[in-house]
Amino acid sequence: MLSQEDLIQLFKKTRADTEKICSFLETEDYVVQPIEDVSPPKWHLGHTTWFFEEFVLKQYSPSHKLFDENTAYVFNSYYESVGDKVIRTNRGNLSRPTVAWIYEFRKYITQAMLELLNNRKLDEEALGVIEIGCHHEKQHQELLYTDIKYILGNNPLFPVYNKQFNENLIQKYHREWIEIEEGVYKIGHDSSSFCYDNELAAHKTYLHKYKISNKLVTNAEFLEFMKDGGYQDVLLWHAEAWEWIQEHDINSPFYWHKIDGEWHQYTLQGLGKLNPEAPVTHISYFEAFAYAQWKGMRLPTEEEWEVAQDNFEWGSRWEWTESAYSPYPGYEKPEGALGEYNGKFMVNQKVLRGGSVATSSDHTRHTYRNFFHPHQRWQFTGFRLVNT
Ligand code: AVJ
Ligand code: FE
Repeated sequence: MLSQEDLIQLFKKTRADTEKICSFLETEDYVVQPIEDVSPPKWHLGHTTWFFEEFVLKQYSPSHKLFDENTAYVFNSYYESVGDKVIRTNRGNLSRPTVAWIYEFRKYITQAMLELLNNRKLDEEALGVIEIGCHHEKQHQELLYTDIKYILGNNPLFPVYNKQFNENLIQKYHREWIEIEEGVYKIGHDSSSFCYDNELAAHKTYLHKYKISNKLVTNAEFLEFMKDGGYQDVLLWHAEAWEWIQEHDINSPFYWHKIDGEWHQYTLQGLGKLNPEAPVTHISYFEAFAYAQWKGMRLPTEEEWEVAQDNFEWGSRWEWTESAYSPYPGYEKPEGALGEYNGKFMVNQKVLRGGSVATSSDHTRHTYRNFFHPHQRWQFTGFRLVNT
């Protein structure tokens, strides 16, 4: 548990980092919602702010005056127990509140939070919720990057977000297969530092012997799969996956464009030539699985990933695992509305491990369980293989 003093620093930095990410945007970039998964940047700014007002100020600051009566309706994401909300697909249809208004809302809530943190000795429960609020905002920082990428990268003009943002970190080493012995291993978060409820309870699990790659699959390797007709070979795909690639005419990772016979990739630095040595990204679980089938290998389970992670570099791509996102044995859903944070999504999604170039520093850890639906690919996803 962080001290109140450390929490003040975390809070200030988190609020400032979010605004830094948005400092590269034009006002019009803040407003659109091209697909349901992608929220308008201004919505993220408002939602992360509402979270502090709803779960901290309303609960622990009796003198707090709401900035506005309607923020809960506009910026509540999915907390059914909190009340009515704008339906998700309508987030991009709201020209009001304006971007400027939302920045005022942010300033007001940041100020109110700092007054609370600086002037009152808060108990563990309140400090705990504020810490969740900071990590929540960090999750939205990553979503801001990926949503901005979707908004700009699906614009025919391919505008640049930031020339300095290098998302293609090269793994300058050869592939090796790390051998892990069979045995009983400890899984889950097991210290007093912050974790989400879904990383608990720490427990033991038995693993068979396996070999896991020290490297993520690269663009060059994924191209071999494509050249070999991987996207056309029905026998490599799940039924749902095959239906999905047919319906959406999928035949390459997302953000790839063939221009004059050469593969290009849109990144936050703009459109450029595909770097064959970069780890492949913006692929679905479906595609990762099909590639593994083609190789005669498989994806690691989340437990296999967690046990082996000390032996390889990670953190540039969220790595699809073979594991379904389910509660660990001993999982306890938090009480009240924050019980809706993670627990209710534990069906029909896959676990991803690691972190990505868009993940805020100090946000992820080796027990962190990210989760998405198997077809989703607008996040910085990638994968490594297990060979057994
Ligand atoms: C863990 C990334 C799937 O995007 O809904 C944001 C993160 N939770 N606000 C999501 C989250 C609440 C979550 N993911
Ligand atoms: Fe959220």
